[in-house]
Amino acid sequence: MNKTTEFIKKKTENFKPEIGIILGSGLGELADEYCDYAISYNDIPNFIKSTVQGHKGRLVFAEIMGKKIVMMQGRNHFYEGHSMGEITYPVKVMKALGIKTLILTNAAGAVNENFKPADLMLITDHINNMGANPLIGPNDNTLGERFPDMTEVYKKSLIELAKTCALKLGIAVQEGVYWANSGPSYETPAEIKMIRKLGGDAVGMSTVPEAIVANYCGLNVLGISCITNAASSESGSKLSHQEVIEAADIAKNKFKSLILDIIKHI
Ligand code: HPA
Repeated sequence: MNKTTEFIKKKTENFKPEIGIILGSGLGELADEYCDYAISYNDIPNFIKSTVQGHKGRLVFAEIMGKKIVMMQGRNHFYEGHSMGEITYPVKVMKALGIKTLILTNAAGAVNENFKPADLMLITDHINNMGANPLIGPNDNTLGERFPDMTEVYKKSLIELAKTCALKLGIAVQEGVYWANSGPSYETPAEIKMIRKLGGDAVGMSTVPEAIVANYCGLNVLGISCITNAASSESGSKLSHQEVIEAADIAKNKFKSLILDIIKHI
């Protein structure tokens, strides 16, 4: 960790971020528009490179709306074969750099029948169905407890703030429970029916490991899903990664406006 943070501090002339943002599939544009320093994951000691289409794989530092921000432009996923520890390492790094708040974003499939592509959903809670937990293994007591509480992973006050910002901007937002599967296969129609019955509103392949680690180490978390498709082939048509990227592209402007206003008011 020291090696990682020392490297980053040197490259960024000791930039001290207060807010971290992980930008999901198709949502990385914010880091193209605001960029004071950028470091490729490949260059950072102990980071893993990002391999998914629609992701860039850089850590971007910028002052936005008067706040010091660190953005992950692209993330590493469990389905790429990385361990839970590896994919959540950047959260610990951002915590070590000084962030207090982490905004997690992703592309997700709609499970709730009221949701449609390009909707934004504020994550109220999650269900971890990835079959693993990022906190398995020896516990570092300096970071958090062995058995951390998870009753309010997504901070209510941040959800309220996001709703106030959305209302003011005239952006409609949904709220709901994010269900995480390991992927990389999308869900079958039977799986979607099950997720709906068990309380999921949107389904994806990320975010939950990062949210668990962030909550564990005392960060305030806000989660925003960009609904990119009706999950599985319930509609009869097949689902592709291209469709996911295209829907995120349609939503990206309202996503950016919302994020900027949230940053301003945190
Ligand atoms: N399922 C899982 N992950 C996803 C989906 C989906 O339908 N859309 C975007 N990410």
